[in-house]
Amino acid sequence: MGTVYRLPGRGGALWLGDCLEVIREIPDGSVAAVVTDPPYFIGLNHNGKSPDMSDLNIAAPFYRQLIPQLLRVLDPAGSIYWFTDWRGYPFYYQMISEFIGIDNLLVWDKKNGPGTFYTNEHELVIFATRNRKFCVKGARNIIRGISSFSSGAQNTDGPKLHPTQKPVQLISRLILDSTREGDTVLDPFAGSSTTGVACIRTGRRYAGIEIQEKHYRTGVARLREAWKEAGDGARQETQEEAGGVQS
Ligand SMILES: C[S@@+](CC[C@H](N)C(=O)[O-])C[C@H]1O[C@@H](n2cnc3c(N)ncnc32)[C@H](O)[C@@H]1O
Repeated sequence: MGTVYRLPGRGGALWLGDCLEVIREIPDGSVAAVVTDPPYFIGLNHNGKSPDMSDLNIAAPFYRQLIPQLLRVLDPAGSIYWFTDWRGYPFYYQMISEFIGIDNLLVWDKKNGPGTFYTNEHELVIFATRNRKFCVKGARNIIRGISSFSSGAQNTDGPKLHPTQKPVQLISRLILDSTREGDTVLDPFAGSSTTGVACIRTGRRYAGIEIQEKHYRTGVARLREAWKEAGDGARQETQEEAGGVQS
């Protein structure tokens, strides 16, 4: 096995590598939720032209291999949260629904954002469950009150360390909605390991995979720091903030 950082005890691990390879090491049915924020394709272009939908098709064979692997490792009662923006949404909706029914589309109201036509103030999260028994009292499909890095997340999360970094509070809320303490949460596109920090703060086990070494290193540093800071008090606080766990 390649480079891997293991958290103490049952804290989990962050692998450096291609998720399509590394996921083969993860046992069947061992993951309670996949919470992930895959690449945005905004850097894709060819012959100096801006990207369009046909460019996204280059990625289709990759996802047609990855999504069945995600379903293999997911518990029969497990959930998938898949971040995307409006450009990637049609592609990812099509890809995911080839393999599993999609149950909802969550909208994260980011409070503000960049853009010259209409500003980009929301992000989308495709939500799918395997057995459709998900039930959280008061769970709404618009998530409000959580700041992005363009509206103040650095006050709670510290400096932005990855170009598309998500706030820990946002990922913690999704984890708390759909998993129990001690469950494993997989993020195959880990970036700076925000999902890992959220797992530590909520008492979940982390399985993260990141292909770029610089982001992997950032992730390891954040996980070390979060592990040092985590105590029962901090975990309890996050649990209460998000309103509890599924029945
Ligand atoms: C949108 S970013 C995730 C950012 C993350 N949510 C955070 O808060 O830092 C997607 C990440 O997926 C990584 N990635 C792209 N292809 C990958 C692959 N095949 N396997 C693992 N990671 C990959 C990229 O390097 C990038 O860091």
